[in-house]
Amino acid sequence: MADIGKVLRDRLAAAFETVTGSTVDPVLRRSRHADFQADGALGRPDARAVAAAVAEAADLGDLCSDVRVVGPGFVNLTLADAALDGWLAAAAADPRLGVSTVEPEVVVVDYSGPNAAKEMHVGHLRSTVIGDAVVRVLEYLGHTVIRQNHLGDWGTNFGMLVEHHVDGATFDLSSFYAAARRKFETDPDFQERSRRRVVRLQAGDPDTIALWHSMIDSSQRYLMSVYDRLGVRLQAADFAGESSYNAALDGVVDDLSALGLLRESDGALCAFPDGSTTPLIVRKRDGGYGYAATDLAALRYRIDELKATRLLYVVGAPQRRHLEMVFAVARAAGWLAPPVHASHIAFGSVLGTDGKMLRSRAGGAIKLTELLDGAVARADDPAIGIGALKYADLSSDRIKDYTFDYDRMLAATGDTAPYLQYAHVRVCSIFRKGDVGGVEGPFAVTHPAEHALAMELLEFPGVVARAGETLEFHRLTAHLHAVAVRFSAFFEQCPVLPAPEPVRASRLALCALTARTLRTGLDLLGIDAPERM
Ligand code: ARG
Repeated sequence: MADIGKVLRDRLAAAFETVTGSTVDPVLRRSRHADFQADGALGRPDARAVAAAVAEAADLGDLCSDVRVVGPGFVNLTLADAALDGWLAAAAADPRLGVSTVEPEVVVVDYSGPNAAKEMHVGHLRSTVIGDAVVRVLEYLGHTVIRQNHLGDWGTNFGMLVEHHVDGATFDLSSFYAAARRKFETDPDFQERSRRRVVRLQAGDPDTIALWHSMIDSSQRYLMSVYDRLGVRLQAADFAGESSYNAALDGVVDDLSALGLLRESDGALCAFPDGSTTPLIVRKRDGGYGYAATDLAALRYRIDELKATRLLYVVGAPQRRHLEMVFAVARAAGWLAPPVHASHIAFGSVLGTDGKMLRSRAGGAIKLTELLDGAVARADDPAIGIGALKYADLSSDRIKDYTFDYDRMLAATGDTAPYLQYAHVRVCSIFRKGDVGGVEGPFAVTHPAEHALAMELLEFPGVVARAGETLEFHRLTAHLHAVAVRFSAFFEQCPVLPAPEPVRASRLALCALTARTLRTGLDLLGIDAPERM
């Protein structure tokens, strides 16, 4: 099923072509003055005349009840109620609410990526929440999505941690890491033992690996408990930590060297992609491998073994340069080439209400579980608390910083999850009260509030399709919010259960479609839609 905006756009484009003899974008958008407004004639000397001729030539009789030219050459379009009825019926009859599937790709989504051996903190919130929405939307659109949790579970820190364990400390996620670090900084003997331990770890010494495993396993169990609580789709099988690329790192360096892409600089092996003057350090002076080498190995694995054609990295904006350089090196090596493409799905920081980076009272990073506890305690309900927290994140422009504010995210009115969840609950309660099940219509829109709600509901397929392209979820949240606002107005102005037939059946069908739209949209964002609150 095509979306209504697309059909209008195509018909108007055809009319523009007839009138002007050339291809013109009708520049169609929603308007406050009519249902849609087409601005394609603007900017021409004869804008008004062209707009009038387009309005005349356009084949819109079955769709619009009013087409008129206003101002300097806008074409204002009002959809006919009868046309809305047909579109609504088609959406209601479709289990996908009119959302088309796309040409499927194998997409790797790299998200969450916390560091093992430490608790998750506020810095991991956005990657986890946004990444999960990416997964859900792309899966819904028909892609094969492979989730990859690029866990920080390798490198020099782990030598130190294993050695601390060997010294008799019991591994835990709260103080173990900090204690090991303190000892490393103050005790030269421990420092030296830690260094030797890293070498044994990377060489695969069985005792060292066993100790490392016991820590990583308990870390993964903790992470899974957080993911379960958040309701994100990451599973144990999606953990693909940095350690899993260890055996591939020599090959990365060998292949890049053979291609002449590495230069020695100060004892380290570096790439200078795209004429960059700053190096991407692929092998360190001490022979160890770091973050960049691992990312190059991971990229190859995702393309060669996982057979992905689209690689998405849901990682904070500060890592832009790192990822650009990794992609550039991979392109220069011929590993990353069309049709395969890689993108950084970047996001801004979480700020406190003071406008600075969100921190705990003691000044450190706030634990993620503390944030979840705070939201759930204030909401007095997990679905509402977690939903509010996720919605606050997803409804802000991804690339910008946003302010973490419990009061705002949990407000019962405004652009919040509780407001949308409450609209859904209201629909459900109509069905409970009326003791009616799913009602399929027929739709018979007449009231302006019904018309406005229908217009919004019919936008859903286009909004979801665009969310899949841009991965900008604040546009999806804005749409769902608009649905809830239109529903509230409809609910106030149009009695449902007491209405006479056939109005009652039509209104019930509008209610049912509203509930499904809200539920589906919230689910794409990973947010629950309870039936009661
Ligand atoms: N562990 C990294 C961090 O905490 C995030 C990993 C992102 N993914 C990647 N492929 N580099 O910064």
